[in-house]
Amino acid sequence: MKAMIKQFTGDINGPVSRDFVNLYKKVFAEPPYFESYEDCWIFENIWHYHLVKGCIFLAFDKDKLIGFGCGVGMDKVEKFLPQSSALDPLFKVKCFLRDEASEYINGNSFFYMSEIGVDSKYRRQGVGGLLITRRWLWAAHNNYKNYLMRTDELNSNSRSLYENLGAEILPIKQDVSDHAAIINSASKTRIYLHGSL
Ligand SMILES: CC(C)(COP(=O)(O)OP(=O)(O)OC[C@H]1O[C@@H](n2cnc3c(N)ncnc32)[C@H](O)[C@@H]1OP(=O)(O)O)[C@@H](O)C(=O)NCCC(=O)NCCS
Repeated sequence: MKAMIKQFTGDINGPVSRDFVNLYKKVFAEPPYFESYEDCWIFENIWHYHLVKGCIFLAFDKDKLIGFGCGVGMDKVEKFLPQSSALDPLFKVKCFLRDEASEYINGNSFFYMSEIGVDSKYRRQGVGGLLITRRWLWAAHNNYKNYLMRTDELNSNSRSLYENLGAEILPIKQDVSDHAAIINSASKTRIYLHGSL
């Protein structure tokens, strides 16, 4: 299988949005996260959010969507959020991420590698790695100097993938047990990895 990776620049409400929502739900319903999301939450907070403020790269096997990678500049994160999102768990996560990590990073030069997922049938064939490196190129082209990602402390699939690509672990941890309760996540503590672009 030779995956094709491309940035999504099509119709935000088109049929790919439905495939994205379905794949996102499937990927994060499985180990290590066991999370559950409403379709409209994914559409608004992941799909629409990144297409407006960052980027989404998609992986295809012929016409089948098999993977996704999303990212957003840290300079865009808070400005985009509406007032009402103070109650949104994602808002708290993003504020925390910025506050906690600010001791170590210059927020505005950082690109946040926010989401990655590959259909379980297509894993360990290099698709995840391509979804990371294509976003790095996009971020560098858009003048970001560093990247940051966040993953589960104990059972991450992506930690070694990033470490093999040169990422280093920051000496901070994030307790996400409040957020985990809302989305039924098995992941209670997150760690951060970062590197230069
Ligand atoms: C993380 C993920 C995107 C990797 O996709 P992928 O296409 O398999 O990635 P690649 O084939 O490019 O790289 C595979 C590498 O990832 C790491 N990896 C993948 N699955 C792993 C697992 N279950 N446990 C530990 N490391 C794992 C390994 O370093 C592996 O290299 P190896 O095959 O040489 O051992 C995929 O496992 C996934 O979608 N997981 C569920 C969602 C998720 O965890 N997202 C990350 C949130 S931070």
